[in-house]
Parts: sequence; C-alpha cells; structure tokens
Amino acid sequence: MEPKTVCIIGGTGFVGNYIANRLGRRGDQVRVLTRRRERKRDVLSVPRLLLVETDVHDERALMQQVSGCDVVINLAGILNEHKGPKGDAFRRVHADLPRKIVTACRRAGVKRYLHMSALGAASDAPSLYQRTKAEGERAALEADSDRLRVTAFRPSVIFGPGDSFLSLFAILLRIAPGVMLLPTPDAQFKPVYVGNVAEAFVRAIDDPAGTSGKSYELCGPRIYTLRELVEYIGRTAGLRRKIVGLPDFASRLQARILQRVPGKPYSYDNYLSSTVPNVCTDDGLAQLGITPTPLEAVAPGYIGPYHRQDRYQDFRKEAGRQA
Ligand SMILES: NC(=O)c1ccc[n+]([C@@H]2O[C@H](COP(=O)([O-])OP(=O)(O)OC[C@H]3O[C@@H](n4cnc5c(N)ncnc54)[C@H](OP(=O)(O)O)[C@@H]3O)[C@@H](O)[C@H]2O)c1
Repeated sequence: MEPKTVCIIGGTGFVGNYIANRLGRRGDQVRVLTRRRERKRDVLSVPRLLLVETDVHDERALMQQVSGCDVVINLAGILNEHKGPKGDAFRRVHADLPRKIVTACRRAGVKRYLHMSALGAASDAPSLYQRTKAEGERAALEADSDRLRVTAFRPSVIFGPGDSFLSLFAILLRIAPGVMLLPTPDAQFKPVYVGNVAEAFVRAIDDPAGTSGKSYELCGPRIYTLRELVEYIGRTAGLRRKIVGLPDFASRLQARILQRVPGKPYSYDNYLSSTVPNVCTDDGLAQLGITPTPLEAVAPGYIGPYHRQDRYQDFRKEAGRQA
C-alpha cells in the first residue's frame, strides 16, 4: 500500500492518538489539526506527525489544511457543553463541523472522508449528544459520492489505556468512602477496544470501494450493565467498595447536581444517553475482518493494582521521596 497523507481533526484525544500511531508507524504522513497546540504536545511522540494549530471551524483555514491530503478523518466530539445556550456547542462540533469538513474536502479535491459518529446516534434519541451526532453522521454520509467516498463509525463506549470511562470509574472508586452511589446501574454497554477501533479506520482507508457510503457499528464481544462494569473495575483494581445502584429518580437528581459541579463530571444529557442500551445490532468489526478484543484482556493492565503501585512510585518520585 502506498503511504498516504492523512489529516485528522480531533486527533489529539484518546482515539486520535491510537489512530495516528497506527498510521504513522506504517509510514503514512499524519497531519493533526488542533485548536491549542501547546496543550496537546503529547501527540508529538507519534512518528511522522505534524501538529498544526488552526481554527477548524473557520472554513477557509480548514480547506487550506485538508488540501493535499489523501484522507481526512474527523474525530472531533464533546461529551458535555460547558458554556453558551443549550445545544449550541453540541450542534457546532457534531453537526456544523462535519458539514464544513465535507465542503472543504470537496473544494480541496480530497477523495476520502472517515467520520466518527457514536452508537445510539439517532434523530429521535433522548440526548442532545446523540441527536447532534446523528445530524453530523447524516451530513457526512449524504456527501458520499464518486468524488468523495465517505465511511462512518458508530462505536459503543471505547476502552483502553488513556480512556476516560474505565479510568474515571477507577478514580471514583478510589475516592469513594466505602460506598459508591451509582446512577443508571442497569444501563447497558458493549465496550470496544480502542485498538480495534483504530484498526477499523485503517481497514476502511485501505478499502475505499468496499466501505464507502457505509456506517459501521463497533462493539466488543460482551454486553455489560454499568453495575457489572464498575464491580469488575473494583475487583481488578483491588478496591473493596459497596456499589449502591440509584433508582431512576435519584439518578436524574444526581445528574442535575453534578452538572453544576466545575468540570461537569456527569450531566443530565449523559443520563439521557444512558437510558438507551448502548449495544450493537450489527457486527461492524466482523464485517471489517477484525476480531474484538475482550475487555478483560486489556483493562487489568491499566486499572489493576500493579498499575496503581506504579503510579504511587511516580508520585513518590515527583514528591522527591525517592531518588
Ligand atoms: N471515547 C469513547 O468512548 C467514544 C464512544 C463513542 C464515540 N466517540 C467519539 O469518538 C471521537 C473521539 O473520542 P475521544 O474519546 O478520542 O475524545 P477526546 O479524547 O475528548 O478528544 C476529542 C477531540 O475533539 C476535539 N475537540 C473538542 N472540542 C472541540 C471543539 N469545540 N471544536 C473542535 N474540536 C474539538 C479535540 O481537539 P483539540 O482540543 O486538540 O482541538 C480532541 O482532539 C469523538 O467524536 C467521540 O464523540 C467516543
């Protein structure tokens, strides 16, 4: 396969790091666009990567940056809004930006666009996150043509070192005083490994004819309830905590309270997303020839007690208590 030039929007985050690494290591040139280069320097360890600071919402700047690229990948996304009128930020990132990207691709003569949506994205979904994701996915797939081939991906929650799902619950369990109050304990997920997600993108790049115009649901091998996942994290991290599942009215109340806390660790929109089972109806990984990695094969490596020991060593070193 000829090396390609791949432009990634939203490539400085968790998933972006894995995709960029996978592409850089096989010889592709990777151009990652970011709104704040100084804060996203971690990604610079990826081979053959150029990190460019630009306003991705500015159509002219976007067109300049995607021109000369063989492939454009869009991973930009937010889980919560932090300022402005309700719905504005979700719409801007999940729906308006994909429209601008496909326009920029067409004008710049880019022939391939890979779009990151999310499982549960639907125009009648309960949460704004899911509805705006659906709008962006629709705009992306409607742009599919002989001139610009488009593929979309709809993952369930993604796990792997650096994730903000299992790792977040590991932190919450660590600071919980013996008991953890868990909202929506029966919410269902089919978590997918980030390495499998990155591989799905790479396979789609290598098979434009077979994958264009399609949307792939990406899930791992097993369905878990949120309670099962959190109990697993507790056992794996060696943290004995009692998990108390909150009934629906208390889950809603907790969401309304926590969305006022700085950093918004949980919001009412997150609560609404979790009212729909986050499980695949289609096996996108199998369609792409990928065997899903079980959560249990990866999670102990970054949430297990061994990892915690390592982190304590690092803290001690930082605090100057050890040479
Ligand atoms: N992680 C999951 O479990 C999961 C599950 C389903 C779907 N997804 C989707 O997969 C994509 C990647 O997820 P992730 O976990 O890698 O997310 P992440 O780590 O939070 O990274 C998000 C990326 O989006 C960019 N971004 C954030 N706000 C933006 C804004 N207002 N305008 C333009 N760009 C913005 C950031 O770029 P800069 O700050 O560098 O500009 C960053 O690189 C997202 O679209 C997400 O919705 C993720």
